[in-house]
Amino acid sequence: MSQAIAAFETLLVERRGPVAIVTINRPDKRNALNIKTREEGAAALEQLQDDEDIRVVVITGAGDKAFIAGADIGEFAGRTALTQRDVMLGRSLFTAIDVFPKPVIAMINGYCLGGGCELALACDLRIASETASFGQPEINLGIIPGGGGTQRLTRLIGEGKSMEMILTGEIINAETAFSLGLVNHVVPADQLEAKTMEIANRIAEKSPIALRMAKEAVKLASRSNLDEGLRREVDLFALCFSSEDKAEGVSAFLEKRKPSFKGK
Ligand code: COA
Repeated sequence: MSQAIAAFETLLVERRGPVAIVTINRPDKRNALNIKTREEGAAALEQLQDDEDIRVVVITGAGDKAFIAGADIGEFAGRTALTQRDVMLGRSLFTAIDVFPKPVIAMINGYCLGGGCELALACDLRIASETASFGQPEINLGIIPGGGGTQRLTRLIGEGKSMEMILTGEIINAETAFSLGLVNHVVPADQLEAKTMEIANRIAEKSPIALRMAKEAVKLASRSNLDEGLRREVDLFALCFSSEDKAEGVSAFLEKRKPSFKGK
């Protein structure tokens, strides 16, 4: 059963058991991210962060054409450098996803370009439809990616491939994105939601505390040197021992039953 949980102008937020689906809802503009969408996205995540029943968040785009076709280019016209800087350093949706203490999955159903690709890169997993396409076409506008594209894309797929995508602005198909490691799975369009929900529900069964520690630990790998990363991994691992979920997980294994994690 699905249930709407909040009203926004540019988003739909729906709950399906432990999974919340946030849909960017500007299909006429190929779900381009304007200021309102970014603000509402960050606000929706704030609500979902505090909702203990929600264990995983899925982000997608409305309609069958686009996931997100980038920043709203209309907003660039006439903007000064300082205004643009203020906008981007303000409440960032990409950062909100990055530091969100629960797993976030991008369900990519079409054009995933510019800021849309950067949003997907800020997510923890990316599941794409065969009809999706990817690119950082900012170079065609005389600008560069500014929402983490040069950094997250490079860390994910390596400097050579990232450089090529960013310098050429080339749009690649889902199969190529998969071969580059840009997406975790590619499935036929009519199976995208089922595949995404299957993965989301599987993750949602795990301990929310362990998921939070795991997300933080994995992200350290690209943000610290090996010694620091290994050291902090031990701390996060040990922190799991303070949870009831750890006691439940270990007992369940020893008693040969399925664990029931409470997030405590
Ligand atoms: N910002 C603002 N509006 C956008 C947009 C964006 N990033 N992407 C699409 N739109 C708008 C179009 O202007 C058009 O609006 P209109 O109907 O009022 O004229 C509408 O969405 C449909 O776009 P259209 O180009 O007709 O659709 P399409 O299916 O033929 O092509 C794209 C889709 C995504 C290939 C094409 O719209 C495009 O190249 N968009 C820009 C992508 C981009 O450069 N993103 C990086 C931004 S930094």
